Amino acid sequence: MEIIVKDNAEQMSRVAARVVAKVLNAKPDAVLGLATGSTPLGLYKELVRMHKDEGLDFSQVTTFNLDEYVGLTKDHPQSYHYFMHENLFKHVNIPTQNVYIPSGTTDNYEAFCRWYEQEIVDSGGIDLQVLGIGGDGHIAFNEPSSSLGSRTRIKTLAKQTIDDNARFFDSAEQVPIYAITMGVGTILEARQCLVLANGRSKAAAVAAMIEGPVTSMITASALQLHPRTMAIIDRDAAGNLKMLEYYEWIQEKMVNAP
Ligand code: PGA
Repeated sequence: MEIIVKDNAEQMSRVAARVVAKVLNAKPDAVLGLATGSTPLGLYKELVRMHKDEGLDFSQVTTFNLDEYVGLTKDHPQSYHYFMHENLFKHVNIPTQNVYIPSGTTDNYEAFCRWYEQEIVDSGGIDLQVLGIGGDGHIAFNEPSSSLGSRTRIKTLAKQTIDDNARFFDSAEQVPIYAITMGVGTILEARQCLVLANGRSKAAAVAAMIEGPVTSMITASALQLHPRTMAIIDRDAAGNLKMLEYYEWIQEKMVNAP
């Protein structure tokens, strides 16, 4: 895993946006895997800025979101459909028909999950998957004990995730209990992964993801098996890393690497 430590979340977001832009410049019709939550907000803001100020073009891009709450309609302010529309899609030129987000309201989840997986394959596969990490070490809504080979399916949220996400709802009771989520196996098939984390509350999960054993108890640790994953984290989220000095040394020396 390539580990990049920045001083704060703003710098993290700027570097992440440059990674996305590099993919789009090399392949204008790239397929992006997108995440929600507070972590990628700065990235989306920067991509919107680059679209407006620098002409970053999304007209041929296809996107697949990681997950959605079960039971929330597209226009529910806490749904991930709404989040994506408000924070990215309404500001850039991704064609509406190229946007895929798991449905939280289908009447046949099994069929929907199969269809979603097939659409990813039919699009040519995900070129760059953006990820956040949960306080419990999850990627997407792959909670502890999720199979590392899992595919898109319904998951029951962990108590910690419900508590973590209660801040977006009026109360913890209003946080949906189920989500539809890409699996760890689905995510690992992306050609490149970009995982972002900021803040002290992520330090333990980040250390487990990077330095812990590969375990279904921290599904982000499965990224250790991925040949092309970049983690961009801020200094607070890097707080528990044992080998931090080494990662910074690599960044410094890589400039002149053969
Ligand atoms: P957050 O969520 O960005 O809101 O912290 C991350 C996650 O749960 O994956």
